[in-house]
Amino acid sequence: MSLINLLRKTNRKLLFTTPSHGQKFFVFNKLRQFYKYDISETDAYNPQEALSEAQERVSKIYGTNYTRFLTNGSTSGIIASVLACTQKGDKVLLWRNSHPCHLNAVKLAGCEPVFYDIPKINDWGVPDKTIPNLIDIKGVKAVIVTSPTYEGIVSDIKALKEICNKNNAYLIVDEAHGALYPFSEKLPQSAVKIADFTVQSLHKTAGGLNPTALLHVNCDINPDNALSMINTTSPSYPILASIEKNISYLNSKEGRKNLDNLITYIENLRKNITNIEFGGDDITKILIKKEGLTGYELSELLYDKFNIEDEKTNEISTMLLCGIGTDEKKLLRLEHALRKISVIK
Ligand SMILES: Cc1ncc(COP(=O)(O)O)c(C=O)c1O
Repeated sequence: MSLINLLRKTNRKLLFTTPSHGQKFFVFNKLRQFYKYDISETDAYNPQEALSEAQERVSKIYGTNYTRFLTNGSTSGIIASVLACTQKGDKVLLWRNSHPCHLNAVKLAGCEPVFYDIPKINDWGVPDKTIPNLIDIKGVKAVIVTSPTYEGIVSDIKALKEICNKNNAYLIVDEAHGALYPFSEKLPQSAVKIADFTVQSLHKTAGGLNPTALLHVNCDINPDNALSMINTTSPSYPILASIEKNISYLNSKEGRKNLDNLITYIENLRKNITNIEFGGDDITKILIKKEGLTGYELSELLYDKFNIEDEKTNEISTMLLCGIGTDEKKLLRLEHALRKISVIK
């Protein structure tokens, strides 16, 4: 039975268990529906079984050994990955400017961080790909790579996996910003079936609630022990059920069509705008720059004159993030703003 169906079931037992609100007492009435689904691991519900079946089904969709639903973001997936594949004192290679959870993971595991640097793509002011021959992998137990980057620069994960294999190192890919990749051929290849561990935030681009995410494992290490060290013993079943629903949507005809439409709208926008350059490897992250304007000026114009807020800006370019939920109307407003900006001398 799906988690959603399990939560919809009427329970006929009188529960003297947690949560004491008993799905009937609403401290916050606007979240009534959420309370109704907020159950615990009682015998009457037994949601653990439905959760484990849901994770099995989702793992089959992705083609992984294990996929786990995360209710504490990619942050928890990165920490669990490092805890799962290292031992105290091991060396872990990580990007110096990576998300803080990478270094926190290494510290929590009692490992030694070894940093690598990534040069900037000067034309865009954003960090480049992680290139295998730029990282010194000798003697490390695990390598953490961010792909895509915030701005949608994607590394060659197959090549990175090959050098990890040669050096007996685990490859952990932070694909927090690439959760849509497995669902469209028009997007970059996902690391999900290549890396030993891949972490994706559903909440960033894939329509998920904050802070839903997934941990995918392709090696023999079952991540449950590591996850149990950092997870609560009282997970939120409404949020877990939303993850199950999220994946079945992305994998459905409707979800794939929606994603395909999004890509088509952005392709059209790119075709219709001249005098503004588009960059990056991932079309859903609209990375733009305009001659004569710094990235910060472009961002400010969008914000002040057109009420449009971007996701990330640097001295040269600015990036507007799209995902499930970005509709044609919103993109047409952006196109209108970009057309006006494009004629500024
Ligand atoms: C590259 C990268 N990795 C990991 C994270 C952490 O993700 P989450 O917010 O899902 O914990 C973020 C969040 O901004 C991120 O940008």
